[in-house]
Amino acid sequence: MQHLSSLTDWSPETLAAVLDRATELKAYPDTFSGAAARKVLFMIFEKPSLRTRVSFETGIVRMGGHAINYDVSTSPLGAGKESLSDTIKVVSRYADLIVARLFKHSDLEEMMQHAGVPVINGLTDYSHPCQIVADLLTIREHKGGLKGKTLCFLGDGFNNVTHSLMFGCAMSGMNVRVGCPAGEDFEPLPAVLEQTRQLASNYGTEVTVTQDAEAAVDAADVIYTDSWMSYHIDPSEMEKRVAQFQPYQVTEHLMSLADPGAIFMNCLPAARGYEQTAEVIDGPQSVVFDQAENRLHAQNAVMLQLLYPGS
Ligand code: CP
Ligand code: NVA
Repeated sequence: MQHLSSLTDWSPETLAAVLDRATELKAYPDTFSGAAARKVLFMIFEKPSLRTRVSFETGIVRMGGHAINYDVSTSPLGAGKESLSDTIKVVSRYADLIVARLFKHSDLEEMMQHAGVPVINGLTDYSHPCQIVADLLTIREHKGGLKGKTLCFLGDGFNNVTHSLMFGCAMSGMNVRVGCPAGEDFEPLPAVLEQTRQLASNYGTEVTVTQDAEAAVDAADVIYTDSWMSYHIDPSEMEKRVAQFQPYQVTEHLMSLADPGAIFMNCLPAARGYEQTAEVIDGPQSVVFDQAENRLHAQNAVMLQLLYPGS
């Protein structure tokens, strides 16, 4: 049995095969209308969600299955009456698949230890692999491929999406640059950087972390940003963080330094006037809604991969 905790659970070949399956699912949805017939997906979210929750629920239903969204706030788990391990052992007797959005990655790992069915990471403080499967699908569609392309992430480097993007790009033969403030609160985790560099060495691609936003975006094919105020960040941090991240705001000027055919991406939710200007996210280079749509197709491929590994 497989789980999806991080993209690095997969080989680059498996990631590429999941992307191919996602393309097929998008092009020929009717062919897959019974692919998850009678399968039950249990969804547990400790943090807010629009895309992850709705795309997983829609996706399993479109493949003939059913989703249960479990409300933690009214659960024995939420009331402190039942442990995470007992909860997940019980759920494994009913459901075929679990998607979990949790604060702590260590809780996800604990869940995976006790689960009798595959568990999918729907975002933790460490990573957000499902987002990046959708992002790679989107880049492939807009740029005609992944190998040799350069993605630049600007903003919060110490971030789940940034970590998974670094892995996903390196596993797909892409160069990856992170433009972010200096310091352990803003830079990617050192272990993630190290692992990304190892993955990139298979392709001879570049991995760069820089404080220079203009150097980071130079001639890049993809400019990507994410919220400066992720779900787990305390609102009292806002003023300090906005001041730190301001030089990394994606503006029309920074977009003009990228490749002329560059696309702009944001996993959403987005705050106009913060991590990017309204002109950029609502402008012609933005593909953010294609990216959001692709969560559906990408995650259907992820679910099939875990339900029927090797198929
Ligand atoms: N991008 C993303 O995961 O969005 P949600 O938080 O709405 O699920
Ligand atoms: N980094 C963001 C991603 C939201 C999808 C967060 O954790 O809130």
